[in-house]
Amino acid sequence: MQINRLSDALGAEIAGLDLSAPVDDATFEQVREAFHAHQVIVFRDQRLTPEQQIAASRRFGELEIHISTRFLLADHPEVLVLSNRKVNGEYVGVENAGDHWHSDLSYKTNPSLGSLLYALEVPEIGGDTEWANQYMAYDSLPQATKDRVAGLRARHTFNRLRNPRVSIPEHHKGEAAQRYATLSPDDAIHPVVRIHPATGRKALFVSPRFTIGIEDVPEAEGQALLDELFAHATRPEFIYRHRWRQGDLLFWDNRCLLHLACRGIPPDQIRHMHRTTVAGDIPY
Ligand code: OGA
Ligand code: MN
Repeated sequence: MQINRLSDALGAEIAGLDLSAPVDDATFEQVREAFHAHQVIVFRDQRLTPEQQIAASRRFGELEIHISTRFLLADHPEVLVLSNRKVNGEYVGVENAGDHWHSDLSYKTNPSLGSLLYALEVPEIGGDTEWANQYMAYDSLPQATKDRVAGLRARHTFNRLRNPRVSIPEHHKGEAAQRYATLSPDDAIHPVVRIHPATGRKALFVSPRFTIGIEDVPEAEGQALLDELFAHATRPEFIYRHRWRQGDLLFWDNRCLLHLACRGIPPDQIRHMHRTTVAGDIPY
């Protein structure tokens, strides 16, 4: 097993590991260490059935069943399909996943620990994903901003209609109100700065996709602070951009990263992925 860093900001490729077979405990501990050190780990050239992806993912913790039940694999609800393929005029997977910077499931009381995304089909152009290191974002804040955000808590929602920073996908426009009201009606309140339970490091934990306000701060002031934090959180020096290859399995840490689907896929090209999501703790 060999570990190669992918950028100054984050990310490492783990070469020489086949995840279709069980990984022994000693090797798995090295993988976990690499995950905590690099935040995104990349396994190339995998050939995984849904069962094998689920088994590999479970090594990291319990799996979530995503709220978008329409796009779960029928026999394996732990797997969420991301796809721009249409059959009879309907997408066969989530088409717009990650179209704004976010951390997975931060709209829940217990957001995700990490997500695994496996590339079954990739386009020739476009469809990259970016991750931004939120340890670096926090560490590089001016001391005055660190003091200002210490102890603050923010409101997160799944509901795009309540978030002026995000757009409503064209194919959701008719059903948006109904969809957001029923899929995840409750907001979650989380610290603006969280402590990573494994590394003990502080990370910014707000995102334009899900964070809509700061608790106990006047509305305009809270929005101005969020604008400032969002602009800082995704500075180029904190980012790794991944160009997907077929057979890539990536595992990223939702507790200290934001990520973004860069899109830009030509209409005649297919990007088809399987995602599993590891459940996490309540942030503190
Ligand atoms: C996700 C996600 C981004 C992408 O699967 O959680 O945000 O580029 N994906 O597919
Ligand atoms: Mn995501």
